[in-house]
Amino acid sequence: MRPLAGSNHERYSARALKVMYIVGARPNFVKMAPVITEVRRVLPDAHHILVHTGQHYDPMMSAVIMEELGLPAPDYVLRVGSASHAVQTARAMERIEAVIEIERPDLVIVSGDVNSTLAATLVAVKLGVPLAHVEAGLRSFDRTMPEEINRIVADEFSDQLFIHSDEALENLQAEGIEPNRIHFVGNTMIDTLVAMEDRFRGLGAASGLGLTAGEYLLVTLHRPALVDGPMLFDVLDQLSRIASELPVVFPIHPRVRKRVENIALAPSARLLDPLGYLEFLSLQADAAAVLTDSGGVQEETTYLGIPCFTLRDNTERPVTVRAGTNMLLGLDPSRIADIPSAIRPKAHAMHRPPGWDGHAAERIAAVICGEPAQMTPPLVGARG
Ligand code: UD1
Repeated sequence: MRPLAGSNHERYSARALKVMYIVGARPNFVKMAPVITEVRRVLPDAHHILVHTGQHYDPMMSAVIMEELGLPAPDYVLRVGSASHAVQTARAMERIEAVIEIERPDLVIVSGDVNSTLAATLVAVKLGVPLAHVEAGLRSFDRTMPEEINRIVADEFSDQLFIHSDEALENLQAEGIEPNRIHFVGNTMIDTLVAMEDRFRGLGAASGLGLTAGEYLLVTLHRPALVDGPMLFDVLDQLSRIASELPVVFPIHPRVRKRVENIALAPSARLLDPLGYLEFLSLQADAAAVLTDSGGVQEETTYLGIPCFTLRDNTERPVTVRAGTNMLLGLDPSRIADIPSAIRPKAHAMHRPPGWDGHAAERIAAVICGEPAQMTPPLVGARG
């Protein structure tokens, strides 16, 4: 990393370092919350600036979840809102550029793979501001996914790449990213889960919805390939069919809401508005299984030891398949019919990947302060 290489805690503290965290969408908040807490803890004299692009803006997608996670109020809210990819990204770039010009941070930190991550990356690199990317190196090898493009750009231009799985190391090495930019630190989304575990375990969200723990399918689907076209109706039809055997609860993302307004489902299949973080984690932890196309949910179910069925042809998180919790169904709604008989809780032995332990953000903060990485990267090619 250019200006920060070899830096240390004392030097940063002495010159009132400015660290800017740029977030925009729901998964960013979950991944970034522990990073902000830890970097603030180790650099108490630095200025910490939180920028929210406003890509997500519904209260349940933004303000409510940020409050649950204990995130500070953003210093800047850029209100970019929803639009085509080009317009949303361009709007975010214009507004992020203005904020970076005002604040002149020493380091920008981004997470994940949403359009706000892409916009922040392009602005930071063009203004010569050092950049760190949390959750680097994931690849689905499917360039029709907007997230894949966003990840490739964020990784190419980040000075510090924080990774959470061995395949991330392989992917980055294959793309020629210098090893000294890559830090194996673990999973900050799991840090958040661990920090909140007592709270969500005590919540009993399932019984609040009239469901019995261990006896329902939690569904979360929001990717354009599934929910923007006719496949959504095949999914709902399949869910209605299995619901008499396995009750279904499906909190719907706002992009799905408009399309399902007049759809009647079987009585045991329920559509809900988006849920808060704690309620959703409570439902995950008590589910018989989860059906998803989300990346984060594949990871959370791995930590929780809950069977996960992923309705996609690929995953950028094969570590969750190797862990034994995640099964790729393919982009094929007819496979939903197989779920009730495919749930074998005992077959899903808990195997948490290294670094999914609640301490990833501590390791990130240490690297930012110039301390040596505390985890040895896994040996490429040596995994079982
Ligand atoms: C975005 C990310 C996706 C991530 C997901 C998590 C990109 C390209 N995609 O997808 O990787 O998994 O967030 O939720 O960045 N909308 C609302 N209210 C909101 C936000 C969105 O109604 O607060 C609706 C709008 O109709 C909008 C649509 O959802 O057009 C899509 O929102 P957008 O932010 O473009 O993408 P997501 O599907 O949320």
